[in-house]
Amino acid sequence: MAEAMSTAEPGETKAEAYARVAKEIAAIVAGEPSATARYATAACLLAQNFGPRFFWTGFYIVDPDKPDELVVGPYQGTLGCLRIPFGRGVCGAAAATGETQRVPDVHAFEGHIACDSRSQSEIVVPVFNADGQLTAVLDVDSAELDAFDAEDQAGLEAICEALLTG
Ligand code: SME
Repeated sequence: MAEAMSTAEPGETKAEAYARVAKEIAAIVAGEPSATARYATAACLLAQNFGPRFFWTGFYIVDPDKPDELVVGPYQGTLGCLRIPFGRGVCGAAAATGETQRVPDVHAFEGHIACDSRSQSEIVVPVFNADGQLTAVLDVDSAELDAFDAEDQAGLEAICEALLTG
């Protein structure tokens, strides 16, 4: 477990760091059926490894009672808003389209929801279950403009792809 809590290692490329964190998450959640436990593990290890660049890291879950609404799930960071309708803000856009949203400047994104005024850029990745149904989105915010590049997108998408299916 001590190894799983390690933070980004010196000399590691970003792609290597994502690959290592993906392996750590997979090893910890193997055999664990609870989606909440899986989301919490990923939120913790991503924040531990990539903070403080990631100042808010967590999941918004599709509410089973309101399937067109997201409700906040496990996260690390400052207080997040509780509910986001599909189609609103960056998370709602990812939920409505089923596609990753990479936003270099949140102030230029129509309808962005400012949970924390320090947020400057954001990436939101959809999470699907083994049946291909959208179950959540992973939201990562940064206090820096344009903090997420194609490598971040690939690394986070790989982790989300394996999260409920691996
Ligand atoms: N900014 C997000 C809302 C969630 S918080 O940043 C934690 C959005 O526009 O979807």
